[in-house]
Amino acid sequence: MPVQQPRPGDLSPIETASRDEIAALQLQRMQATLQRAYAHVPHYRQAFDAHGVHPDDLQQLSDLAKFPFTVKKDLRENYPFGMFAVPREQVARIHASSGTTGKPTVVGYTRNDIDTWAELVARSIRAAGGRPGDLIHIAYGYGLFTGGLGAHYGAERAGCTVIPVSGGQTEKQVQLIRDFQPSIIMVTPSYMQVIIEEFARQGLDARDSSLQLGIFGAEPWTEAMRHDIETKAGIDAVDIYGLSEVMGPGVASECIESKDGPVVWEDHFYPEIIDPDTGALVADGEEGELVFTSLTKEAMPIVRYRTRDLTRLLPPTSRSFRRMGKIVGRSDDMMIIRGVNVFPTQVEEIVLAHRQLSGLYQVHVSRTGLMDEVEVHCELQPGACPMPDADRSAIAQWVQHRVKTLVGISTRVRVFDPHSIERTQTGKARRVVDTRAR
Ligand code: DLL
Repeated sequence: MPVQQPRPGDLSPIETASRDEIAALQLQRMQATLQRAYAHVPHYRQAFDAHGVHPDDLQQLSDLAKFPFTVKKDLRENYPFGMFAVPREQVARIHASSGTTGKPTVVGYTRNDIDTWAELVARSIRAAGGRPGDLIHIAYGYGLFTGGLGAHYGAERAGCTVIPVSGGQTEKQVQLIRDFQPSIIMVTPSYMQVIIEEFARQGLDARDSSLQLGIFGAEPWTEAMRHDIETKAGIDAVDIYGLSEVMGPGVASECIESKDGPVVWEDHFYPEIIDPDTGALVADGEEGELVFTSLTKEAMPIVRYRTRDLTRLLPPTSRSFRRMGKIVGRSDDMMIIRGVNVFPTQVEEIVLAHRQLSGLYQVHVSRTGLMDEVEVHCELQPGACPMPDADRSAIAQWVQHRVKTLVGISTRVRVFDPHSIERTQTGKARRVVDTRAR
């Protein structure tokens, strides 16, 4: 797709405003958010009181650091509707994050919230190069997950023609892409890999499809994965970030002209990076845990929410807002292997660098006695088979050696036949299987 520079009128004025204008807007909105949270959500009133702070103490943006963090547990303890700042009747929609254990986290939106969300996803689509009239295939799951409906409303707002396919039924996904000829796809990067593979299974080349642009998110993915998808599907791949507790997709999104990390839509969300151990703020450019405060949400304002996502804040480039680096990983997914911190994304880069591997992988962690054992499972490209055992072990040794040198841990690597690794059918891939807890 020829890279589309934004045209005058494509951007809302705040996207190119001065930093002073942005800061002034943020301060005014942050004060209103803290007042709203304190006045209407018992959890925030108690937490602020216990911390000895009051919304009136926020005189400048940096005063936010005086306020307590909000964590997932706070949302769980107020299940289902205790974090709402409006009467339930004014909540137009509910979403929830599945969560692997315990109760899901519930989020609510007023009509205005849904409107803001649609506008921010539309802004994200425009930043990615989408324009009114484009045909968009949405393969994020619809339902309580924010991906499908979030993308859907945004695509409609951007003036596109929406194909609401949702996740799963991969054969049908390919059929619909062939029949309807969309130019844009919105889906998780791991499910895009599965769709590309389905093209090949049907004897087709994904590069010949009508797709020109993919807007991928909902899970960590690396530059190596971007390159892999762009090459195999012949499209531009951009990164969209978000989380249900803060809104859903479209909290930050990447510009096609720079592809240098998602731009945080700072007029609606205030980002901070903290040291995950001490909670202290770290400077822009340094890695730490991303924390968000919503600036305009009505139904569920969120103050200093600890995302568990590890990344950095970067200076503005294509827009006046700061960017975030690609998410290195979630602190929940971080494996501590014999004292070394390891993220699946580090393994992903290595596996994707080998041409005879499909790029799908899983990291299995177990414990024998007192020792953590790590096995990297990867699989051959369909075209690489049959392969003599000696060649297969050479690939395993290559991966093992790179993981040892680049990540710093000893692993056992198993190279399976094509299609052996579990495929995601609904979206987010399961990259780590950790059986140590049991
Ligand atoms: O995944 C919202 C979303 C849908 C974002 C579609 C983008 C596209 P949750 O299910 O609440 O919401 O999961 C949020 O997913 O904290 C990150 O760990 C991860 N995540 C989301 N987007 C990205 C991304 C949606 N672009 C959690 N890169 C977040 C890396 C991402 N991780």
